[in-house]
Amino acid sequence: MTLVVFPFRHDDADLLERSIGIAASHPAVTRVLAVGDVPPDDATREVAARASEKTHKPVEVIVQERIGTLRPGKGDAMLTGLSRFLGDPKPDRIHFYDSDIRTFSASWIERAENALDAGADVAKHFFHRSPTDAQITWHLTKAGAAMLWPRSRFPDVHQPLGGEFALTRRAAIRLWESPQVRERSDWGIDTVLTFSMIQQGLALHEVFVAEGKEHGYYGSLTDLAEMLWECLDALQRLAPLDLPEGDRPTIDDEGTVSKALRDQVAYDVAATTRLLATDLSPAAQTLVEAFPELVPLPVAAWDDRRWARALGVLLAEFRLGNPAWEELAFRSWVSRVLHHTTVNVPLGYEASMGRLQTAVEALRG
Ligand code: DGY
Repeated sequence: MTLVVFPFRHDDADLLERSIGIAASHPAVTRVLAVGDVPPDDATREVAARASEKTHKPVEVIVQERIGTLRPGKGDAMLTGLSRFLGDPKPDRIHFYDSDIRTFSASWIERAENALDAGADVAKHFFHRSPTDAQITWHLTKAGAAMLWPRSRFPDVHQPLGGEFALTRRAAIRLWESPQVRERSDWGIDTVLTFSMIQQGLALHEVFVAEGKEHGYYGSLTDLAEMLWECLDALQRLAPLDLPEGDRPTIDDEGTVSKALRDQVAYDVAATTRLLATDLSPAAQTLVEAFPELVPLPVAAWDDRRWARALGVLLAEFRLGNPAWEELAFRSWVSRVLHHTTVNVPLGYEASMGRLQTAVEALRG
């Protein structure tokens, strides 16, 4: 018996009806919960009522509760789903999916159910991504994890920021009881969940989704600034904690990468390049004098060595909510992403993905 949870934002609910319908129709699914950042309007309630009527299963749309202690965001939506699951003794599994996946289908649920049937505590989806997508994942999350916990499996997890996974009840209880999970109400939730899955020694199966996660891409990288800062803060708060080496996860074989994805540019490069043309604020300028690793050099200078030095400083010194630190963290990361886009990506898909992987491995020492 499985509960499927869709965290969603009110401005991102276009595909909710389709996603809810697919989940509710799956034979293993006994309940569906969509958790939004604002109270549901009449149209959204009707979407849930129609799906419920058609499938004879409970389908609800609710507003997220205030559970974490940081900015109320995606973390609160996921924690609300977890808390509802733990408060209902009937389902023995919970799945999470972003609601805006255009390629969502019953097979996402199927693959995760199969992995849990085979003994995994956690089934975590992964899929191919464009060489210019996943730029927080590569440059911050995997790279930061490689610096902080070089012997652990964290840097190897394909999509540590992925919001698509399934848990047994045992795994859900272990995660819910982790204090770092319960405080994380914002974009940092995925980082702490991945960390805690490994910390708790849960058996992880990474399930490959061949059709990929087609979702909306970004304008300039400004769209990702808040996510960047909150994911950085999550790593900083986890930094004092240890991670065991752990067993190798079970990982599905990957298929071939589609031509469309190989060539896809995931953000607006011209608009992002223009962001670097502005001067630093006086407060950021003062910080740069103390931390020369963050001096805004031209994009070509942001190679692996410079980024490693900058990331070391950011992990130690960044302050979430401090505008000068946020400006510097964003600017450094933008420079690094543009470096990858202009230096590595033209080498072709395999070479550019190889460069991302090599940079992470080098940080493990
Ligand atoms: C990431 O880096 O994985 C985020 O999803 C943004 O693309």
